[in-house]
Amino acid sequence: MKIFALSLALLALLAAGASAQVPDTYTNLKVLPQDIGKRELLGTMKSFSAALGMRCSDCHVQKIPGDFSSFDWSSDEKPYKEIARGMITMTKEINSNLLPAATGEHDFQVRCVTCHRGVENPRTLDNLLLKTISKDGIESGETKYRDLRENYYGSGSYDFTPMTLATVAETLAQTTGDMSGARRMVELNLEMNPDHADSYLMLAQFDLAAGDKDAARVNIDKALAIVPDHGHAQRMLQLLEP
Ligand code: HEC
Ligand code: HEC
Repeated sequence: MKIFALSLALLALLAAGASAQVPDTYTNLKVLPQDIGKRELLGTMKSFSAALGMRCSDCHVQKIPGDFSSFDWSSDEKPYKEIARGMITMTKEINSNLLPAATGEHDFQVRCVTCHRGVENPRTLDNLLLKTISKDGIESGETKYRDLRENYYGSGSYDFTPMTLATVAETLAQTTGDMSGARRMVELNLEMNPDHADSYLMLAQFDLAAGDKDAARVNIDKALAIVPDHGHAQRMLQLLEP
């Protein structure tokens, strides 16, 4: 409790320090209202930073790293700043035109965090992993998953339920025919979610595709040990009967 109160006080101090070093008038606003007040501008900038998991310096030039007074706020040198302008315009267009046109009345405003969920690039985890695997190989895909899980588990930024790796494995098997990569993703899934019966059935399917009925039977039994009345597992076992 004490530590919490202390860190709140610290945060307030930091915020006050930052606020004092941000000017009261702005010279290079192209999409935000020209007459925006300092409190609203800073609130908007903080919400951008939180929604994207970014710091001010990701979008603004800071001449001396770590020195808040060395920011050149009006500079457009950082590429993310220009992208962010496009995103502000896009978000405005969604809320004022596209969303009402699609749903009629609505009481929900799309914000940066709606898509970004605390990360720079709002790709879903399965999409991100497939992209990494096609670019840098299965090893990198696995490393990426472990890193993201370590850093984001519980944050809501990515879906770490077993469906994600199952989708990645299925996509690898079906679209690229990379069976060993698919198998590795299923094994990773089982390491993280040992009770995911469907993963054992996926392994059984890969075994069958490779002509190894005995291995398939072992994996189906493992699925049934977890979910004894698993209909799909029972049917697979029946099909394997001589
Ligand atoms: C995701 C990118 C992004 C992040 C992160 C970000 N900003 Fe900005 N900032 C912008 C954009 C875009 C504009 C210009 C908006 C416009 O053109 O209307 C802007 C404008 C500003 C301006 C006005 C500059 C001027 O004179 O025109 C200030 C001051 C500012 N930001 C402060 C901050 C602070 C402080 C932080 C960190 C708490 C921050 N920004 C984080 C994108 C960002
Ligand atoms: C409707 C969904 C959506 C909303 C709302 C949204 N973004 Fe994005 N944003 C995206 C997507 C998708 C990408 C990645 C595009 C790509 O990878 O080509 C992106 C990329 C970005 C990037 C570049 C980051 C990178 O790694 O490439 C920035 C900066 C950014 N958005 C800022 C914002 C800000 C600021 C807001 C709120 C004003 C916002 N976005 C609202 C979907 C959204």
